[in-house]
Amino acid sequence: MCGIFAYAGRQTDAAGMILDGLRRLEYRGYDSWGVAIRNNGGILTEKQVGKIGSAEVSMPESNAGFGHTRWATHGGVTQCNAHPHLDCTGRLAVIHNGIVENHDELRQEVRNAGHRFHSETDTEVVVHLLEDAVAARNGDPGAVEQATREVFARLDGLNAIMVLDSHSDKLVAVKNGSPLVVGYGDGRNYIASDASALLPHTQRVTFLSDGEMVVISPDGIVARDAATGAQLQPEVLELDWNVEQAELGEHAHYLTKEIHEQPAIVRSIALSQGDTAQKLADMVRDSYGTFFIGCGTAANAALTGQYLFSRIARRHVNFAPGSEFNYLEHFLTPQSLVIALSQSGETIDVIEPLVRGKKEKGIQVAALVNVLGSTLYRLADFALLLGAGPEKCVLATKSYTAKLAVLILTAYALDGRLEEGQQLILQAADMIEEQLSDDNKARIADLTERIYEREDMFLIGRGMSYPSSLEAALKIKEVSYIHAEGFAGGELKHGVIALIEPGTPCIVFAPNDETRGGILSNAQELRARGAYVIGVSPQPSDAFDFHIPVGDAGDAGPIVNSIPAQLLAYNLALKRGTDPDKPRNLAKSVTVK
Ligand code: F6R
Repeated sequence: MCGIFAYAGRQTDAAGMILDGLRRLEYRGYDSWGVAIRNNGGILTEKQVGKIGSAEVSMPESNAGFGHTRWATHGGVTQCNAHPHLDCTGRLAVIHNGIVENHDELRQEVRNAGHRFHSETDTEVVVHLLEDAVAARNGDPGAVEQATREVFARLDGLNAIMVLDSHSDKLVAVKNGSPLVVGYGDGRNYIASDASALLPHTQRVTFLSDGEMVVISPDGIVARDAATGAQLQPEVLELDWNVEQAELGEHAHYLTKEIHEQPAIVRSIALSQGDTAQKLADMVRDSYGTFFIGCGTAANAALTGQYLFSRIARRHVNFAPGSEFNYLEHFLTPQSLVIALSQSGETIDVIEPLVRGKKEKGIQVAALVNVLGSTLYRLADFALLLGAGPEKCVLATKSYTAKLAVLILTAYALDGRLEEGQQLILQAADMIEEQLSDDNKARIADLTERIYEREDMFLIGRGMSYPSSLEAALKIKEVSYIHAEGFAGGELKHGVIALIEPGTPCIVFAPNDETRGGILSNAQELRARGAYVIGVSPQPSDAFDFHIPVGDAGDAGPIVNSIPAQLLAYNLALKRGTDPDKPRNLAKSVTVK
């Protein structure tokens, strides 16, 4: 999704610093970018289509400016549509995250007032509205702030807007939906759409709430209520991430770096999250109806949670993808507990039903979330921080296994066996380490050679291995662009088996549990139709053409079994020449519906 990085400070290295900030936001996904700085009472901009790569901006010294990475929604991927957008006079520049839902009607009004448009974006209406609102204030020193509040109130949808005024070194930001984080430096202040971009500069931050406006300048930061203009006292937090955690280090890509971080993260969850897991378990026990929601990989973790709670704690929980939960809300009551899973804590398809559910039905919300201060973190009645560190690859890996580890601990805590759960997670951490041994990586490289030219792949599992098959398929398809589909093993013969052709790679999850007999029969059915069957299992089987041995982790099987597919996805991406960290069309933090 779009990224914002802004700077106002005493030093005059704005352009370079902003470009560096945008590079740190690249992982969010974007297709064009731009920078604007104040210069000699005017504004200089530079905009380009494509990735920043090794680009430099040749701009003069300046002490205030901002930059934007655009993930196109309204209007194609062109230089004109890239942000920042300027008003007709060149005094004001605007960058924007979100969608102005009433942009058509506003555009008509602005056109009728004589403004000329240079882009097809919804954003450009904002800067022309601002131009008129500032002009109407006729030299008032607070004109840009007041105009920003007035114009923002007219925008429908979930938006974050930033305004640069060539007449002052103040930058104005306001938000309602899209994340913005203010960073406090010494004579240097910042705003970014993501805290990880601020790490080289500061760890002292404020996460803006919806309906808040902030003005940053070299002298400080002033926060206001966007509706009333009343001054607010922002809550300043200290980030517990450091800049090294957000950098590649010795690794070639974030995907492999983050895969290799998993043993330590899972171990630390076992050792340090006992109390928080117990608290969550108590909330589940006290609720009347518990729901797990999440999107994409988080949905696969949530679905696994449904199986884990049934198996470990004999407790029924409901699962729904975040984007569907709005249509299942009719039976929610104040006794309902919704546990939202989200790495970023900003996924709008998760946030939106929670906001409605809290407001209209009085539900309780708990969150398994990785980003301190994120919207979900602040919204939840109880937020459990995953502690996985910054996840910069678009593919979720370590946040997925972290969520599974917390869910397992919570299910064990609910059953009064927290310590047993902790031991199990520690064993799983050792088994992930084994999966990451050179021998196992060589095996995955061998498998990659055998299948990388295929365009279709199927994956099956039963019970809690069913969501493992969905997640493994998601990892493979999003980064290699191979069509990979996960299915419940028993469902295959009800239709999908028609798609099996000689040599079609099929991954079969066959743990040592009650699903083994059934899934091996399904593997034989595939083999009988010519499939190339790859077994992920503690034991070999006649049903497998290729065996990937994994440790027998019992209830923690979904954690350990996810590693081979993560490694395979990485290897397939390298072999097929795709970008392992920034797959096409995808964004890390999905803040639009
Ligand atoms: C897949 C992936 C996405 C995210 C999804 C939810 O690898 O990364 O499917 O899992 O967009 O994101 P969060 O967890 O931030 O809510």
